[in-house]
Amino acid sequence: MTPFVRTPLYIFVVFYLLVQAGYFAYKQITTRIARRRIIEEHGCQPPKSFDGQSWLPNVYSLKMAKMIMSTAKEHRLEKASQERYREYGNTHSAKVYHIDLIFTIEAENVKTVLATKFKNYELSSIRKRAFSALLGYGIFATDGAAWKHSRELVRPSFARDQVADLDNFEEHSNLMINAIPKDGKTTVDLQDLFFALTIDTASEFLFGESTNVLLGMNTLESKANLFAEAWHRSQLEVENHTRSSFLYRTPKHFKEDLKIVNDYVGEYVQQGLQYRNDFMSDPEKATSKNGRYVFMHELVKATNDPVRIRTELLNVLLAGRDTTASLLGNMWFTLAKRPDIWAKLRREVDDTLHGKRPTFEQLKEMKYLKAVMNESLRLDAVVPFNSREAITDTILPVGGGPDGKSPILVRKGQIVNYSVWVMHRRPEYFGPDAEEFNPERWEHIRPTWEYLPFNGGPRVCVGQQYALTEAGYTTVRLVQSFAKVESRDDRPWTENLGLTASNLNGTKVVLTPA
Ligand code: HEM
Ligand SMILES: *[C@@H]1O[C@H](CO)[C@@H](O)[C@H](O)[C@H]1NC(C)=O
Ligand SMILES: *[C@@H]1O[C@H](CO)[C@@H](O)[C@H](O)[C@H]1NC(C)=O
Ligand SMILES: *[C@@H]1O[C@H](CO)[C@@H](O)[C@H](O)[C@H]1NC(C)=O
Ligand SMILES: *[C@@H]1O[C@H](CO)[C@@H](O)[C@H](O)[C@H]1NC(C)=O
Repeated sequence: MTPFVRTPLYIFVVFYLLVQAGYFAYKQITTRIARRRIIEEHGCQPPKSFDGQSWLPNVYSLKMAKMIMSTAKEHRLEKASQERYREYGNTHSAKVYHIDLIFTIEAENVKTVLATKFKNYELSSIRKRAFSALLGYGIFATDGAAWKHSRELVRPSFARDQVADLDNFEEHSNLMINAIPKDGKTTVDLQDLFFALTIDTASEFLFGESTNVLLGMNTLESKANLFAEAWHRSQLEVENHTRSSFLYRTPKHFKEDLKIVNDYVGEYVQQGLQYRNDFMSDPEKATSKNGRYVFMHELVKATNDPVRIRTELLNVLLAGRDTTASLLGNMWFTLAKRPDIWAKLRREVDDTLHGKRPTFEQLKEMKYLKAVMNESLRLDAVVPFNSREAITDTILPVGGGPDGKSPILVRKGQIVNYSVWVMHRRPEYFGPDAEEFNPERWEHIRPTWEYLPFNGGPRVCVGQQYALTEAGYTTVRLVQSFAKVESRDDRPWTENLGLTASNLNGTKVVLTPA
């Protein structure tokens, strides 16, 4: 008999626990020492705390969570956040439940998170969990090596000029214009039409065949409509998941919707793989149905894994559809209330095009159109809030101390939440008229990190050109078709936060044909 066998079990247990506790204490001490060193080396100071100072350690707080939930319910989270920043400073800290957050609207800090120290941050784990449930692990829902791989797969497909295929926009914007009442009396919600338009153009661009929701308003049972609806419902679940975080439970219908979405896209992926075979045997012979550029055709040249292809297609659809529709809806909400801007825009469109379809180059030339889009994205940022989680101890250049000018320590696991919406309205960046919609300001400003509608750094939006071309093209065709637009909504723009920010009551207008 060895003495080993006679030793009672609890001795091992106690020994094990002691080792664990010792290791924990050791980690605590070394982490503390390392943090102290960072603080001393960079002169870090703590930012102002939203939860206030107390001699008790602050381990849990509902104050910020309550503020976010109640003001979101009242559709004024953006404005309330702006007031909070005014009261607590451009950078402040807060607990949301047990999680440590840093809130900032300093361009320098945002640049540090998104670019200078990109490697020190990841997407928050809540976002990754919520998004991957619908989208799988593609460009929009991953970090590190997996994200890099996705980005390399997806980016070349955006590199070519034809990416923003004007024929695609022409065909579907025509269908949309056809759906608008021409009596100069009937109210129409342009926002609904923009959401239909962007799923029709995005599906055509991504899969090679349009959902044609704008055409199929009468064939509700069509596969494309079922897909569009299942997609819409699944996306609401993703949004709810992001918001409810750990309280979220996946409802039964989500699985069914997911199957509809995957089956629908799966069929196109099969066609894509057929294209790949054709392309491999004879690149000359391989073409799309109508000779148009198809995003998927570039993807299949890089991979033949059907799940991978489907995953990336759905990721791009999620990133690109509501965003572009919201830009259009927000911009037209303002156009309908501002006859001065409308008149100037019409003049530019007429002078440049004389009633003809715009070319790619002409769209680029229209300075006022671009200034109106820029201004809309500034004041009604489509993605108003965003965040990143620190994966190591790191620092931000400003925000600490009584004057908010000292660097601050960001501890591993802390989340940096930045608001582009609030940053875009800072008078220090855009002047005393920062709150006003004034496209003319773009004649003399060239903002950098203080203007970020499309994000910045290595994860900058890959669809920016596509989005601006689609929004510009659609706007031009509408301007050419109608002489007048009048708002049928007296209230000011009121936030409706889903994946993107749009107006609560849509874009209700009356259009008078040209
Ligand atoms: C007005 C329209 C748009 C706006 C305001 C916008 C804005 C953004 C923003 C803020 C991000 C960063 C998200 C984050 O990292 O947390 C992003 C990423 C992305 N956008 Fe856009 N976007 C628009 C249109 C589009 C379009 C039309 C497409 C595709 C056709 C697209 C594809 C993507 C993709 C794939 C990413 C992820 C990039 C990455 O993580 O590497 N976007 N966009
Ligand atoms: C969001 O999710 C929660 C928790 O699963 C659920 O109770 C709630 O009904 C959902 N809300 C919506 C609008 O789907
Ligand atoms: C960032 O903070 C805002 C409130 O200011 C909140 O609504 C939003 O969900 C947060 N965003 C992220 C991505 O955590
Ligand atoms: C719109 O904003 C972008 C990004 O800041 C800028 O590069 C571009 O020149 C602006 N366009 C106009 C017409 O002001
Ligand atoms: C605005 O939207 C809200 C919520 O969807 C609705 O209750 C209200 O009737 C709408 N008002 C108008 C004038 O459309």
